[in-house]
Amino acid sequence: MDYFLMSVFLLLLLWQCASCKVAEKPWTYSGHVGQSEWLELFPDCGGSDQSPIDIDSTQTKYEPKLPPVRPLGYNQHGHEPFTLFNNGHTVEIPLPSWMGVAGLPWQCSAVQLHLHWGNPMGVATGSEHTINGRSAAAELHIVHYNSELYVNMSMAKMQRDGLAVLGVLIESGEETNQGYANIINYLGRIKHAGQKVAIPAFDIRALLPKDLGRYFRYNGSLTTPPCYQSVLWTVFQETVMISETQLMKLETVLYSSTTEESERTALQDNYRTTQPLNQRTVLASFRKDSKVFSAGEISAIVVGSLCGCVGLALIIRFIVKTIRSTSSWDVLPSVRPAPQPRTTDKENSQKPETDVKMTAEPGRNEPAPQDPGFSNAEFQISV
Ligand SMILES: *[C@@H]1O[C@H](CO)[C@@H](O)[C@H](O)[C@H]1NC(C)=O
Ligand SMILES: *[C@@H]1O[C@H](CO)[C@@H](O)[C@H](O)[C@H]1NC(C)=O
Repeated sequence: MDYFLMSVFLLLLLWQCASCKVAEKPWTYSGHVGQSEWLELFPDCGGSDQSPIDIDSTQTKYEPKLPPVRPLGYNQHGHEPFTLFNNGHTVEIPLPSWMGVAGLPWQCSAVQLHLHWGNPMGVATGSEHTINGRSAAAELHIVHYNSELYVNMSMAKMQRDGLAVLGVLIESGEETNQGYANIINYLGRIKHAGQKVAIPAFDIRALLPKDLGRYFRYNGSLTTPPCYQSVLWTVFQETVMISETQLMKLETVLYSSTTEESERTALQDNYRTTQPLNQRTVLASFRKDSKVFSAGEISAIVVGSLCGCVGLALIIRFIVKTIRSTSSWDVLPSVRPAPQPRTTDKENSQKPETDVKMTAEPGRNEPAPQDPGFSNAEFQISV
């Protein structure tokens, strides 16, 4: 019975798929057209240079010639409002082509920005890229195309050197991020897939971390179908913080379903799992971060600090001992009888005479002070 019902259900599903959705090649993050099925419909998703990746900071190669990334015109938004769009996979803002980015191998023009996130139950998941196996709560992507070599995005997106994406890892904390508020405050107006709203233009630079000089760079792909391997990736090392309330809104306000669909589907966990690095090298624009330690480095530091502490303790002990013995030298004179009052001239003049007498006396019993260790007693015994 159950099998029969299930077969009917599957047939219905297949029929629905075949009848209306094959032409536009739908995809989702999970389910029957989820990530593991992408390569069936989009062969590039099975390529060897896919994104996102886990960035193992012990395996990155420091490249001193990588300059800081320089946003161009990110703050020159003019008076035209931006459009905020729920495309069913993410929330997106198309960007004017006069915005761009320098510090890359080519001049690049901005195309759009969008976000990836998790769900309110997921503990620290949501970002696409991970660093040393660790996810952030969300991730911003600002997509650019190589405007030096290609006329527009559609000509560039399939080319090996066609696109450049800036990736920003987002974490949650206490403070409201005013930059991200420019997006998150309007999500309630585009709950359903296909909805758009005009929002006041704002400075895109406010979405980036402060430090644009420290980043990872590698060759990868679009993280959504058709997964073209055309992206030069820049993932900033510094993360940005949004408030927990802002993150919660991002994770719960939107639906991937349209208003026409009777069943609402939350737009959540719209991140792709990390892909194999294969033969690729991840470059770092900065020297290994002294704040991120490997297990080996941590044990070295612990042992080192222990040795340091023991050494310090020994040094302190030595100093204390030294001070004690020094102070006993200092104390001694005060214990000594008070210095005698000055002797009279008469006595002084007499003293040399006695000294002379004593040294001049040859038949003395006492041993001469010049030969210590050869005391009278010893002499007697040995004789
Ligand atoms: C991109 O440029 C090509 C070649 O000039 C043109 O045919 C195409 O319509 C353009 N596409 C867009 C989306 O502007
Ligand atoms: C990306 O690929 C191009 C061409 O294959 C190569 O010249 C460049 O060095 C690569 N960049 C990185 C960061 O690996």
